[in-house]
Amino acid sequence: MAVLNIVRMGHPVLRRRAEEIMEPDLPGWAALAADMTETMDEAGGVGLAAPQVNQDVRLVVFRIPRERQNPDEPSAPFETQVLINPEWVPLDEDGEPMPEPELDDPELDLMEVLDIAENVMEEGLEGCLSIPGLRGLVPRYPRIRYRGIDLEGRIVERDAEGFHARVVQHEIDHLDGILFIDRMADLETLCFESELHYLLEDDRDPEAGLDERV
Ligand code: NI
Repeated sequence: MAVLNIVRMGHPVLRRRAEEIMEPDLPGWAALAADMTETMDEAGGVGLAAPQVNQDVRLVVFRIPRERQNPDEPSAPFETQVLINPEWVPLDEDGEPMPEPELDDPELDLMEVLDIAENVMEEGLEGCLSIPGLRGLVPRYPRIRYRGIDLEGRIVERDAEGFHARVVQHEIDHLDGILFIDRMADLETLCFESELHYLLEDDRDPEAGLDERV
């Protein structure tokens, strides 16, 4: 195993749509996932996407710290979860998939704006190993269902809430060339970690967000 270099905002690999992995059980992917896990741990993060280590493929690793466990969610992955070619959909309050706009729908961005306006999304603090030192409040869907393939080629499908849902949305965004700053509704909340206390003193409630970087 090896600790890899984490590329930072400005590197073009972070702005590309990463490639699908055609043969998930090739040993090379297990080796990459092991290196990414070591890199994530070394950097003190809880999630890492392959483009962050300059690998242009749809693979992420993450784990949910036990202190972040949601009691309603016994299946959260406390051990490192590797997901290849992952996808997700937002769930409504009853745990049913929300109506999904077509991917080529020109109103897709508008739908997201409406979801923010209608408080379907929840703001929470995020940081990113590729944007070191900065944090910001990011609206995310509080409940999602995600699906991907593990290193043995098995399908992994899970419902996730809160912190778990936020980590997965952040990581899969990396595979589409999207950084958390692109998702922020209010850039005034973008701040350096050393000034974070000013934001926390504000009347916002970033409890649902990430102390950890991903
Ligand atoms: Ni990140």
